[in-house]
Amino acid sequence: MEISLRNQVAIVTGASSGIGSGIAKSLASAGAVVIINHSSERSLVEAQAVLKEITDAGGSGMTYQCDVSSEDEVVKMFRDVISAYQTVDILVNNAGIQKDAEFTKMTLDQWNAVIGVNLTGQFLCAREAIKEFLRRGIDPSRSIACGKIIHISSVHEIIPWAGHANYASSKGAVRMLMQTLAQEYGANKIRVNSICPGAIQTPINKGAWSTPEALDSLLKLIPYNRIGQPEDIGNMAAFLASDLADYISGTSIFIDGGMTTFESFSTGG
Ligand code: BGC
Repeated sequence: MEISLRNQVAIVTGASSGIGSGIAKSLASAGAVVIINHSSERSLVEAQAVLKEITDAGGSGMTYQCDVSSEDEVVKMFRDVISAYQTVDILVNNAGIQKDAEFTKMTLDQWNAVIGVNLTGQFLCAREAIKEFLRRGIDPSRSIACGKIIHISSVHEIIPWAGHANYASSKGAVRMLMQTLAQEYGANKIRVNSICPGAIQTPINKGAWSTPEALDSLLKLIPYNRIGQPEDIGNMAAFLASDLADYISGTSIFIDGGMTTFESFSTGG
């Protein structure tokens, strides 16, 4: 059994670091051409480093700067990628940010920034991807499916998170966006799923693992007793995008070392 994404083009948003970079490398190693989206000029160097790792390993792709919360930029990214590579087969809606604050101190800017990237960004990219999937139709030389969307959600699509109301709200909404799209476009053979990571060792949650004390308290939430790595998510993304997962649609897959078993209940309740 081989996971193959040969002849397929994948856009991974927020792929210059963290989980996105892990996903980009996994998809490329399964044979996909990968568009490494990054949000700003500042993240270009990191995106280029991800591309270099991919090309050094025999893969191919390009970097592309685009703020996923901007409609014009997203429309242009899809137009440019389609003109460079003819079509898009896989979208991984990964770009995400946190702007944490105690609820009464949360500013509208903090709220809007998180909803803008984590939810509106996923809407805009999914809309452009689905338009392209429907335009192309099924091409069996690429995949049995007409197209695949993977939303990167979070354990916080089901675990409430004090101090992170904007983030948890965005992820709860991503679950409904994913399920609605899976329902709306299933008959078109478009598969839509979410991956819900737990604590993965990336820059977004550095405060939770960068000191021994923080790591120790984080591990109390993880029955499997280790922090996750970007490739834990990348491996699942490659499988989910492949035809081996052809009957999987409309579901959330939790990759969290058991975090959603609510570890604290092992001694309480
Ligand atoms: C958040 C991380 C957090 C993890 C588990 C993720 O979605 O981005 O900051 O460590 O959930 O709580």
